[in-house]
Amino acid sequence: MKKQTVLRLILALAILLLVIQFFRPDANRTTTSSSAAIEKVYPVSEEVQGILKQSCYDCHSNNTTYPWYSNIQPLGWWLQNHIIEGKQELNFDEFGNYDQKKQKHKLQELIEVVDNGEMPLGSYTIIHRSARLSPDEKDKLISWAQNIRRM
Ligand code: HEC
Repeated sequence: MKKQTVLRLILALAILLLVIQFFRPDANRTTTSSSAAIEKVYPVSEEVQGILKQSCYDCHSNNTTYPWYSNIQPLGWWLQNHIIEGKQELNFDEFGNYDQKKQKHKLQELIEVVDNGEMPLGSYTIIHRSARLSPDEKDKLISWAQNIRRM
């Protein structure tokens, strides 16, 4: 490629990156507390709540704590995509609206994905190291889910 062509490409890319910064996804935030939140319908100890908040709520609740990089596109879009998909699968703030069968099924899935390390997503814990679950936190989440699954 000619040097001029390369320069043009770099310029075009820079402009593209600049332009996409104006397309910010809507924030996943609510101020009202949901009456269908899991802690309203099942016992959730403070400890378990803390683990869920730290490791799961960014993608599975109606409130995301946004990291600095979400202000940079396309990283913000990528996170937004995870939030939309994650909430579709499981929203802890809507848990009480699921029917009994779905609740049990979601708890079973939770046990599986925590046990096999699928959740929280690896692409997320690379940056959010504090969201990683220790073996002890995994045990606590799993036994909590097993307990409320039997209720
Ligand atoms: C960075 C976002 C993110 C975080 C953090 C996260 N999840 Fe997910 N989760 C997703 C996405 C996206 C899906 C749907 C796609 C998939 O299954 O990979 C999902 C799917 C699930 C499912 C459905 C599983 C299935 O078999 O499809 C469960 C259950 C779940 N997550 C539990 C959790 C739990 C528990 C935590 C915390 C320990 C957590 N997730 C943290 C994004 C996230």
